[in-house]
Amino acid sequence: MKRSLAQLDGARLDGQRALVRVDFNVPVKDGLVTDDTRLLAALPTIRYLREKGARVVLLSHFGRPKGGPDPKYSLKPVIRPLEALLGSPVAFIDDPAGDAAVAATRRMTRGALALAENTRFYLGEETNDPELARRLALLGDFYVNDAFGSAHRAHASTEGVAHLLKPAVSGFLMEKELQYLGAAIANPKRPFVAVLGGAKVSGKIDLIQALLPKVDAILIGGAMACTFFRAMGLETGRSLVEEDRVALAKELLEVAGEKLVLPKGGVIAPELREGVTTMTVPRDKIPAGWAVFDIDPATGLDFQKRIVAAGTVLWNGPMGVFETPPFDSGTRAIARALAEASASGAVTIVGGGDSAAAVAQAGLADRMSHVSTGGGASLEFLEGKVLPGVAALDDA
Ligand code: 3PG
Repeated sequence: MKRSLAQLDGARLDGQRALVRVDFNVPVKDGLVTDDTRLLAALPTIRYLREKGARVVLLSHFGRPKGGPDPKYSLKPVIRPLEALLGSPVAFIDDPAGDAAVAATRRMTRGALALAENTRFYLGEETNDPELARRLALLGDFYVNDAFGSAHRAHASTEGVAHLLKPAVSGFLMEKELQYLGAAIANPKRPFVAVLGGAKVSGKIDLIQALLPKVDAILIGGAMACTFFRAMGLETGRSLVEEDRVALAKELLEVAGEKLVLPKGGVIAPELREGVTTMTVPRDKIPAGWAVFDIDPATGLDFQKRIVAAGTVLWNGPMGVFETPPFDSGTRAIARALAEASASGAVTIVGGGDSAAAVAQAGLADRMSHVSTGGGASLEFLEGKVLPGVAALDDA
């Protein structure tokens, strides 16, 4: 267990500069934030610190700029929405590794808030350069990591700085993520059912292997099911199949036995296009020239029954190409099934990324026990990997 913000003596935070790593890597279109989930998720930590009289300095990366500052990747579009959510001004620090930035943080008044420019504008961020970490550490009197979504990155602002600025504790979002995901793996209410989807089995192999001994069933959807179909000797037409993973899929099928539940059939089409002619076929009747783009309704029902009967459900990855109707039906059915399971007392956890987007699109996010803000981070955590951003924090 890691030391959390709640464990620090609140009275002693008054006037202190809290350097808080958040994950504001949010979708932005034409300069506007199109999904503020990650901003909302950071509010409890920010509000708590301000209430205690701390001066709050926020650090985050944004996108994947290459080789230095690039206005396209500025964090400036986040200022306005953050101000609106908090109802107070947010100062901006252009060059967080410069001397002027340190002076600016020292001038901040109690409860003030500043956002620093994209940490990835420095080459040293991703190389975890100790000198950059040292410069960043000068911006605070203690460190809070609330960026669960970036915890799998050993970068200067997530890992390096945590060794230099003490105490280094987890924020409320980080704590909540680790609690939900950790409890699901360590002590799940049974039956424990995992629902895995997405295009490629290659990205989910470690997860399947890590989950198999822990779950009661893994329901597989998405194009990755087709690699399993091929491993079963079925015709897969033009479906996406990872040829170099077919042998591995075969091994997984042998090891997993009944625990691995594959779709009974799929919704197929000759090409991926909105409004294209579709057919629903059993998995052993996929014609050459057609491809699977969603699970079929019979599978939707089968998965739904298993999900509703579960004590814990963990969902990572869509069941079909949900961005292109009508191939969103399977994914929507799973989202509804999880909502139903939550209502009857199950713990329902949605991994970040695409499945979180699908749940939000279906308007069901608040019906889940927990929707993770971390895509890659939640995957690595569930695979049993050490998250460097967490490991570097103080032990409880
Ligand atoms: C994410 O969006 O998953 C995190 O912010 C990490 O971003 P990265 O994959 O660019 O490191």
